[in-house]
Amino acid sequence: MSAKEAIHITDVGPRDGLQNQAVHVGTEGKLRLIELLVEAGLRSIEATSFVSPKAVPQMADAAELVPQVLARFAALRTSVLVPNLKGLERAHAAGAKEIAVVLSATETMNRKNINMGLDQATEVSEQTIAAARALGLRTRAYVAVAFDCPFEGETPLDEVLRLSARMHAAAADEIVIADTIGSASPGQVKQRLAALRGVVPIERLAVHLHDTRGMGVANAWAALEAGVRRFDASVGGIGGCPFAPGAAGNMATEDLVLMAERSGFSTGISLAGLLAAVDFAQDALRKPLGGRAIPWLRRQRDKDTQDNTRRLA
Ligand code: COA
Ligand code: ZN
Repeated sequence: MSAKEAIHITDVGPRDGLQNQAVHVGTEGKLRLIELLVEAGLRSIEATSFVSPKAVPQMADAAELVPQVLARFAALRTSVLVPNLKGLERAHAAGAKEIAVVLSATETMNRKNINMGLDQATEVSEQTIAAARALGLRTRAYVAVAFDCPFEGETPLDEVLRLSARMHAAAADEIVIADTIGSASPGQVKQRLAALRGVVPIERLAVHLHDTRGMGVANAWAALEAGVRRFDASVGGIGGCPFAPGAAGNMATEDLVLMAERSGFSTGISLAGLLAAVDFAQDALRKPLGGRAIPWLRRQRDKDTQDNTRRLA
């Protein structure tokens, strides 16, 4: 039997998940969530963002958080989102080794998110990638609203291709195609990724899905079939951009892991470990969380516990 093919998952819960929560999670809580994700087997996490604390108060502790994450989890690939050169400077000062820039594929989304027009956002993203590379950092480039924009409607595919090509030409290590508001369908994912493969080598493409309309798993499968092996997801499905109205949580990491493992891929991530992280995040955020598979996963866990208790009795 041949070895299972691996997929790589970045859990963006501590950043995308926590940036839009009404309940404030402190630095200790964020560290504990990251610790549980590492224990579950995650090797890549987007921990925080170096953005204006006025824009996103939940990420105001980035400079305290990052050195602690790096010190405690040396083997973890810790990514941080930076919207501009000031963000990069702050991230570098905190010791970050990997950054992500965020370029939206429409004029209005860039203005709402980072107060720049599309051309300026593209240039700033290129400059930030170049400066990060000069510092020896690994780089991810989000191409956000790559399917639909909450302000402008369907995003023209040509724009997504043009901007992805620009980010590839800037030598970003990973181009992350983001369905920021969770509106994509599997057919669109298939079609857009087939076109994107023509401008960015498939091994550099990642997808970042939200599950607003319940199509996260189907979209992830479409991406797998299109050859993508890099995914963002968020534990418990927490998430959503504060500047993109209507965006629900990210695709849940546990749904992605279950689907991928059941389909013959290896993720290196334990579902029991993810359940522990979901439980913790629920307590921290004081609301029920979890992807589509969570009720079933919990029943399995309860059954296993009962079986073990019976065996021990
Ligand atoms: N980190 C912290 N502070 C920053 C910063 C950064 N990366 N970039 C700019 N600032 C500060 C400036 O120093 C200035 O501070 P001051 O008011 O104390 O002088 C203030 O923010 C305004 O700077 P300016 O360059 O005019 O920025 P802006 O008001 O046009 O805002 C962003 C631009 C990018 C900083 C802001 O829109 C932002 O942080 N957006 C983040 C969006 C986000 O996280 N979205 C979710 C993830 S996709
Ligand atoms: Zn997102």
